[in-house]
Amino acid sequence: MIQSNVSLQPYNTFGIDVSATAFARFSTVSELEAILLENNGKLPLFILGGGSNVLFTKSVDALVLRNELKGFEQVNETGDTIDIRVGAGEEWHAFVCYCVEKGWGGVENLSLIPGSVGASPMQNIGAYGAEIKDCFVELTAFHIEKRELHTFSAEDCAFGYRESVFKRALKGQYIIVSVTYRLQKHPQFNTAYGAIQTELEAMNVAELSVSAISQAVMNIRNSKLPNPKELGNAGSFFKNPVVDTAIAEALKERFPEMPNYPQADGSVKLAAGWLIEQAGWKGKRIGNCGVHARQALVLVNYGGASGDEIYALSQAVLDDVQHQFGVLLEREVNIL
Ligand code: FAD
Ligand code: EPU
Repeated sequence: MIQSNVSLQPYNTFGIDVSATAFARFSTVSELEAILLENNGKLPLFILGGGSNVLFTKSVDALVLRNELKGFEQVNETGDTIDIRVGAGEEWHAFVCYCVEKGWGGVENLSLIPGSVGASPMQNIGAYGAEIKDCFVELTAFHIEKRELHTFSAEDCAFGYRESVFKRALKGQYIIVSVTYRLQKHPQFNTAYGAIQTELEAMNVAELSVSAISQAVMNIRNSKLPNPKELGNAGSFFKNPVVDTAIAEALKERFPEMPNYPQADGSVKLAAGWLIEQAGWKGKRIGNCGVHARQALVLVNYGGASGDEIYALSQAVLDDVQHQFGVLLEREVNIL
């Protein structure tokens, strides 16, 4: 059923109060088809998962479709692996917990990332040395114009750092309805990133397991990232910039302590959080919004901020970082 003029405040983790011209939920593909028939092309569509990677700067003059497709289904098994097809409307972290409980490896480093499974391939979510592309098998998506289901392999999705074909060439054309992930029955643990090892030691973990890694990742995340239920935010507002070696070398000469991560293709990833902190923005509040005090990549809504206010703050940060370091940051959050 399509509702008119619905507030989106409960449906975005920034807690921005804007309204949608029309709003509908679907939990099966046939419900989705019925809604599209009712809309009859009148309003453009916007697909919403958990609303944890969007910033609404104005009312949304569209039919907002809230994806509530559920279910976990085992679709393949070998001696070493299990393939699980997951409904796009399942919460990502619920899927992680499902795998961790069974002792299956592959997604434990991605614990506690908010949002839906359907959005996970959109920007190839990543954290603590893992990205979904590493255990992705395929996804099924509904082509809005043709009203057909299409299957995409990892290659079709053109995954990159916080990138996929669905943010680029196929933007707005598909609704992802399920994603199949491959889990490992005898996991290889990945504890190399950042503070995982130190956290495992602090936890006194006697035997490494997917459950221990998941807990370590959750502890680290809880220590730096604000809980959207307490403080509106959408995680990292910017991507970490990837620059040419020459630019990285020149910056390293000026700032020898600057974190930098050489990439396989010869480019170098810089830490946007470090650049923003050095530019003096960490913990700064402007009106109802600000730059988080424990993680400078995260912009927060202290309550009552408009999307425009947060966008203006992001522009000021971006301009300042460019002025001070000559590096242009790119927003990670989807701006509407
Ligand atoms: P939404 O915000 O609802 O949507 C995001 C985009 O995807 C929109 O353009 C939307 O139209 C589109 N979309 C959503 N569902 C579908 C679908 N089924 N079909 C087609 N298009 C769709 N991200 C990381 O990668 N790593 C992190 O460590 C991380 N940490 C975070 C921490 C916090 C506290 C927060 C608030 C966010 C964090 N994020 C992180 C960002 C966010 O969790 C991810 O981008 C997540 O995948 C967004 O899911 P969602 O369902 O909320 O998407
Ligand atoms: N740093 C600072 N100051 C800050 C924040 C970071 O100096 O305020 C430095 C850290 O000291 C470290 C480096 O920057 O040397 C990297 O920091 P961190 O490991 O915390 O990760 P990040 O690069 O800031 C990225 C992702 C996060 C993901 C973490 C963990 C992006 C844009 N962000 O953050 O993803 O959880 O790594 O893997 O790639 C998200 O996408 O929303 C998100 C939260």
